[in-house]
Amino acid sequence: RQNERESLFIVLNFAKTFFQNTLLKSDEGQSIGLSYFRERGFTNPTIEAFELGYSVDQWDALMQEAEKRGYNRALLEKAGLILTREGNAPGQVKQYDRFRGRVMFPIHNVSGRVIAFGARILKTDKNQPKYLNSPETEVYHKSQVLYGISQAKQTIRQEDNCFLTEGYTDVISLYQAGIKNVVASSGTSLTMEQIRLISRFTQNVTMLYDGDAAGIKAALRGVDMVLEEGLNVSIVTFPDNEDPDSYVRRVGGEAFKTYIKNNALDFIRFKAETLLRDAGENPFRKAEVIAEVVESIIKIPDPLKRQIFFRNTAQQLNVDEQTLISEGNRLIRKQH
Ligand code: UTP
Ligand code: MN
Ligand code: MN
Ligand code: MN
Ligand code: MN
Repeated sequence: RQNERESLFIVLNFAKTFFQNTLLKSDEGQSIGLSYFRERGFTNPTIEAFELGYSVDQWDALMQEAEKRGYNRALLEKAGLILTREGNAPGQVKQYDRFRGRVMFPIHNVSGRVIAFGARILKTDKNQPKYLNSPETEVYHKSQVLYGISQAKQTIRQEDNCFLTEGYTDVISLYQAGIKNVVASSGTSLTMEQIRLISRFTQNVTMLYDGDAAGIKAALRGVDMVLEEGLNVSIVTFPDNEDPDSYVRRVGGEAFKTYIKNNALDFIRFKAETLLRDAGENPFRKAEVIAEVVESIIKIPDPLKRQIFFRNTAQQLNVDEQTLISEGNRLIRKQH
């Protein structure tokens, strides 16, 4: 087991270096991959820091080079680097590279070893996913990983705060703008393992989410779990059609920090505001909103913090604080 994991790390590291060399040294890599990163504004040190690469648009470029170096196909397949398909003749199989003609984002574990790849298509194509990601493997468990954690962990500790974004490029652009305490959940809703990973470095999470409906939904999902772990959660949303990447590139690092300072809402307040906006003046729906917000408040383990949230929420929703507390007690009793 231990040996197999180690072999996977080694072949994944080989693939990473292969994709890096392709990006920086091959004609196709430079003219397609590197110019793509340039258009996105990524500088050389950034490309180096995240070990970005490029996979050529051929069936087996990686597989051939890997075999030449003595890595066998079984290992390449276990690492998620090649795919196997039935051929035309009976019993015949065809094997080929999983990642072709894409810019490569290595995904590192907390200690900086490559465990997987995210791979972005260069031009939008309805028939293909924008990002193709490694499958689950012996060393890659998507639900346990936060993209960027190895580059961010030290700054997360120093700043005692972790910015949580949705995507690879959000992490990279913020890092380049000098905001280095950033990780991404990579498009999935947050898991318990990811929360525990953050809590090794800080108790404060600031979620930076797209302002569109999907972004807000993603933000509301999974946060009760974060509260339950005792972390302090704030949320910042961005104007429609922007994400942290596009926003920081437009305004720069300093203005980005100011935007965060002025727009961060604690999670409970954000939830109440968002749900209230949808409920309008309907008193029944408003009562439901109150219950939902109370449901989040009772997840907070610290009684002192909980009390403060009951008070603030009562003011915000213009209801009696004692009523909220009784509702909380009722919900707790219901759960037991
Ligand atoms: P987004 O669609 O917001 O992508 O998805 P992005 O990060 O802003 O990328 P650009 O700017 O268009 O290049 C957020 C994250 O969801 C995951 C990726 O991790 C992505 O960074 N995702 C998205 C996928 O895994 N597959 C997809 O097809 C799309
Ligand atoms: Mn495992
Ligand atoms: Mn979005
Ligand atoms: Mn984007
Ligand atoms: Mn995005």
